[in-house]
Amino acid sequence: MIIQPKIRGFICTTAHPDGCAANVREQIDYVKSQPALANPPKKVLVIGASTGYGLASRIVPAFGGGAATIGVFFEKPGQENKTGSAGWYNSIAFEEAAHEAGLYAKSFNGDAFSNEMKQQVIDTIKADLGQVDCVVYSLASPRRTDPATGDVYKSVLKPIGEPYSQKNLNTDKGEVDSVTIEPASEEEIVNTVKVMGGEDWELWIDALSEADVLADGATTVAYSYIGPDLTWKIYTEGTIGMAKKHLEDSAARMNERFGVGTAYVSVNKALVTQASSAIPVVPLYISLLYQVMKEKGNHEGCIEQIERLFADHLATEGGPSQLDENGRIRIDDWEMQDDVQAAVAELWEKVNTENLNDISDFAGYQSEFLRLFGFGLEGVDYEADTDPNRRLPSA
Ligand code: NAI
Repeated sequence: MIIQPKIRGFICTTAHPDGCAANVREQIDYVKSQPALANPPKKVLVIGASTGYGLASRIVPAFGGGAATIGVFFEKPGQENKTGSAGWYNSIAFEEAAHEAGLYAKSFNGDAFSNEMKQQVIDTIKADLGQVDCVVYSLASPRRTDPATGDVYKSVLKPIGEPYSQKNLNTDKGEVDSVTIEPASEEEIVNTVKVMGGEDWELWIDALSEADVLADGATTVAYSYIGPDLTWKIYTEGTIGMAKKHLEDSAARMNERFGVGTAYVSVNKALVTQASSAIPVVPLYISLLYQVMKEKGNHEGCIEQIERLFADHLATEGGPSQLDENGRIRIDDWEMQDDVQAAVAELWEKVNTENLNDISDFAGYQSEFLRLFGFGLEGVDYEADTDPNRRLPSA
C-alpha cells in the first residue's frame, strides 16, 4: 500500500515502516559517530523502548557500548492492509541493526504494568543473560491496570487547585489561541500518580531483585521534566508534576533499600515525542525553545540527550559527574540556561498566529512530529508500494 500520514489532533494514525527504519538508522549513525562509552552497562533492560527517550536509551548503550538489550513496549503490529504503530517498526529496525552488528536484542510487546510481562522478561534474562546491569524506565502511558487489584487508572494533564489559562498552539491549524484547563479532582491527581508515578518502576526493580536477575551495582534511571515557570501550572505543579514527585520519592526509596547510586531520576529536555505532543501549552513552548536553541547551536534531540546522559553520567568510571541539590541528573541544563529561557520568555509574549512561522520553529516542530511516524526522511520512497506487515525478528 501507499502509506501517507493521517493526522488526528496530536496523533498520527499511520506510520511508514521504511521511514521509521531510516529514523532509527540515523540515530544509530549518530551514536557511532561519537566516542565509545567509557564504562558502559553490558546488559540493559529498557521499559518503554520503542519511541522517544526510551528508544534512544536502547540505541545508545547498544551502539555506543556493545550492550545486549531487552526492550519492552506496547505497540500495534502492522497487518496486511493496515499500518502498525511507529514504535513497532522502530523496534524491528533496531533489532535488525543490532543483530547485524552481532548484538543480542530481544523485545516484548505487551503491558509493562502487568505481572505476566515482568515474569516473561525475568525468564528471558535468566535464560539468555543471567542478569542485567542497567534498567531504564521510560514509560509514558495514559492508563494503567493495577496488577494487584485489576483496577484501571487513567492519567490526566491538568493543573491543581485553580483553572489555568495560557497561550496554546493548535498544531493542526497552526494557530496560536488560548486554552483554559479546569483543575483536576483529588481522584484525578491520585490516578495520575498511579499511572505515571514510580510505583510500577519500584515493582519492576523489586521483581528483578527478588528473582536475582539484577547484577551487583546495577543502576536504574527514570525520566522527568521541570521546565520554565510558564509551563509549571500544567506540568511541574500539575497532575503530571505530582507523578514525577512520586517518581523521585521512588528513587529515594530504592536507594535506601538497594544502596546509594542504584536509582536515578534524570531531568530531560522538552522534545517532540508522542507523549509531549498531548500536553497542552507544551508544543508552543517547544516551537519557541527549538527556535532559540537552534539559533544558539545547542539544540539536541532524544538521541543527543541520551548520548550525553550515558557519556557524562551513567557510563562513566565513577558514576554521574554531577547531581543537582535533589540528587537528580540534569540533562535539561542547556534548555534551562538563563539566556535560553530569557529569549523564550520574550518570544512567548510576542507570539501569535500571524508571526508564528517567523519567530518560532513551528516548521521544525511539524517536521519532527512527522518524523516520529517515519514521514519526511531522506532516501525513503513515499510513493512506493510498501508492505506494512512486518515481523519483529525476535518474536
Ligand atoms: P513516548 O510516547 O515516545 O514513549 C513511551 C513509551 O512507553 C513507548 O515505548 C511505548 O510503547 C511505551 N508504553 C506505553 N504504555 C505502555 C505499557 N502499558 N506497556 C509497555 N510499554 C508502554 O514518550 P517519551 O516522551 O519518550 O517519554 C518517556 C519518558 O520521558 C516519560 O516518563 C516522560 O514523562 C519523560 N520525559 C519526556 C519529555 C519530553 O519532552 N518528551 C521530557 C522529559 C521527560
